[in-house]
Amino acid sequence: MVELTLPKNSAVGTGKTHPKPEGATNTKTFNVYRWSPDDDANPAIDTYQVDLDTCGPMILDGLIKIKNEIDATLTFRRSCREGICGSCAMNINGTNTLACTTGMDEVDGDINIYPLPHQPVVKDLVPDLTNFYAQYASIKPWLQAETPQPSRERLQSKEDREKLDGLYECILCACCSTSCPSYWWNSDRFLGPAILLQAYRWIIDSRDEHTGERLDNLEDPFRLYRCHTIMNCSNTCPKGLNPAKAIAEIKKMMVERR
Ligand code: SF4
Ligand code: SF4
Ligand code: FES
Repeated sequence: MVELTLPKNSAVGTGKTHPKPEGATNTKTFNVYRWSPDDDANPAIDTYQVDLDTCGPMILDGLIKIKNEIDATLTFRRSCREGICGSCAMNINGTNTLACTTGMDEVDGDINIYPLPHQPVVKDLVPDLTNFYAQYASIKPWLQAETPQPSRERLQSKEDREKLDGLYECILCACCSTSCPSYWWNSDRFLGPAILLQAYRWIIDSRDEHTGERLDNLEDPFRLYRCHTIMNCSNTCPKGLNPAKAIAEIKKMMVERR
């Protein structure tokens, strides 16, 4: 029998249980992953009761209420609170999604919250996305063209502009990449669905003149071809995008140009 030695802090224990707010009769239970780099303690799940009669309807509202009124040490990212910045991505009851666009009433029973899976944790619900952003930079996510800049702007036909639909809406929340098993095991070399969708967004932009170079950059057994079409990415995207399709389109272009 194989014996695995797990790192000490891989076991998640039971944490603090915060009592129901005084006088509250309509509450929802939040079980939240807690871990701090400032002590040697293992991660733990803390339990909070949120008074729904004095709280906004979304899961992010619940987290903000916990931080403001119950436990100021709880750490999470958020900014826009309307599904635009991608900061509040986390794992809610087993699905990677945005806390600000998920209603508390969408979850039956307790709300269980963990950071996005398979990323190092900075603290509590904050994943370390350094590698993710470095991979984003590696695809040069900006327009590259040698043709001199026209006097006002580089024009695009309506049809060419429509090719960017389903791509430009990506908010780089990382929900898809951190739901992808291939990314879990090879995130050092596989770019993952979010970054590949972004790469495709520039590859098919009619104004960009570096298509060949962009494809060369992806022609690699790991960077692109570690996608095995498992489809978790498209199933989880909170913006309803389809990274798996974008990846398939890149693979098709690779075959066509050979
Ligand atoms: S494709 Fe969807 S899940 Fe992936 S980073 Fe973009 S918005 Fe987030
Ligand atoms: S389709 Fe590809 S990128 Fe998407 S989850 Fe599956 S392996 Fe990952
Ligand atoms: S806070 Fe910006 S996407 Fe949720």
